Amino acid sequence: MLSYLHRYHAGNFADVHKHLLLSRVLAALARKETPFCVIDTHGGEGEYDLCCDEARASGEAAAGVGRFLSLPDPPEAARAYRNGVADGRFYPGSPLLALRLMRPADRLLAVELHPRAYQELRRALRGDPRAHLHRRDAMEALLALVPPAEKRGVAVIDPAYEVKDEYRAIPAAVAKAFARWRGGVYFVWYPLLPEARHEILLSSLAEAGFPEVLVSEWHRRGPGEERGLYGSGVAVVNPPWRLDDEAAALFGWLEAAGFGGRHVLRRIGGGA
Ligand SMILES: C[S@@+](CC[C@H](N)C(=O)[O-])C[C@H]1O[C@@H](n2cnc3c(N)ncnc32)[C@H](O)[C@@H]1O
Repeated sequence: MLSYLHRYHAGNFADVHKHLLLSRVLAALARKETPFCVIDTHGGEGEYDLCCDEARASGEAAAGVGRFLSLPDPPEAARAYRNGVADGRFYPGSPLLALRLMRPADRLLAVELHPRAYQELRRALRGDPRAHLHRRDAMEALLALVPPAEKRGVAVIDPAYEVKDEYRAIPAAVAKAFARWRGGVYFVWYPLLPEARHEILLSSLAEAGFPEVLVSEWHRRGPGEERGLYGSGVAVVNPPWRLDDEAAALFGWLEAAGFGGRHVLRRIGGGA
């Protein structure tokens, strides 16, 4: 039974971290002329009205995208994301943000299982011919959809981790997908919570034998300071060339600009 709805959390500090990094992966893919494919396995609702009751009740967006948009002098690497979210009221989720940063010949395959989220996603993508929607299970879809015809692209894997087994199931599915599509980038988000279940996911990714796994974490607070989400993590399997340098510079700016929190970047596994 799916109960998670991202509308409570849209535009929070974790979305800023995740979507900023995703914007750099998409920029790297767009450096070559040939089209690429984005497979978004947990599409969510696509677009979020930050004035809706749920978003106002949580108030998380103010300290996330609200704070981000108030920061002066963003570097060039932050511009694409900043332009994508500049509206301030309607926040684009990962599929819509990807479409905003993709080119006419690139393709989006967006997967969502929750009936209400799926309906919202369909509405948000508004018949964009580059977008193809799937109402099916995320990991089943990932394995069915790789390799995409383009051979180049990224799988964005952003579960709600309502099912605790996902910390093991996700890296296992990524390993199977990688065996079929070795050229793909796999962008896996995870929450930093005091229970530290993300360590299961990271050790599985580290032991899976991928050539390279880059880990970017935004630590808003220390793990023991309060209950709940204290940070946001992304493990990138097969990162694009120089994503590490770009992430270090971009999130170094975010730290210095006073967004709140600090960035931790490292490699895990065989390429560490
Ligand atoms: C964190 S939200 C995704 C947010 C989105 N990626 C973004 O960045 O805007 C997770 C989504 O995954 C969906 N979901 C959860 N389990 C799923 C499954 N097994 N298959 C497909 N979608 C699932 C939920 O309904 C929810 O909309």
